[in-house]
Amino acid sequence: MDKHEIEFTLNGKKRRLTIAANELLLNVIRDDMALTGTKYGCGIGECAACTVLVEGQAMLACMLLAVSVNGKNITTVEGLSKGNELAPIQQAFIDKGAIQCGFCTPGMVLTSHALLTENPSPTEDDIRDYLRGNHCRCTGYKAIVQAVQSCAKANKQ
Ligand code: FES
Ligand code: FES
Repeated sequence: MDKHEIEFTLNGKKRRLTIAANELLLNVIRDDMALTGTKYGCGIGECAACTVLVEGQAMLACMLLAVSVNGKNITTVEGLSKGNELAPIQQAFIDKGAIQCGFCTPGMVLTSHALLTENPSPTEDDIRDYLRGNHCRCTGYKAIVQAVQSCAKANKQ
């Protein structure tokens, strides 16, 4: 398999690596970068546990070739906090009890962050629609919606 050199910004830091042409972004993030907040759920684009932000847009890392992010800005859940200070949307998930096993949480948080960037005042329907691809087996979604609503109300993400 052909190898390619790529350079991208991951959570604010420039990264350069040589990868196979068919390497998935999810594997690069988890295995090469050791950032395991991004979860491997279904691996086929159905659960959104692997969501990352690419240029601020929520995307599925299991469906993206790593070569496609050459030159782009990637944010994983580890990149939302500032040192020990959680981003408001992360804190809201804790405050509203929107986490149980936590497997879906990084994807939920990043997708919610992308929503609030696009639409700072989403309705409940907007939130449910935007998060429809993110599957949670535990919470029943109500607390997740409330977490996003609380950030919208406070005008924070
Ligand atoms: Fe990517 Fe499920 S692991 S969508
Ligand atoms: Fe367990 Fe969502 S908290 S899958």
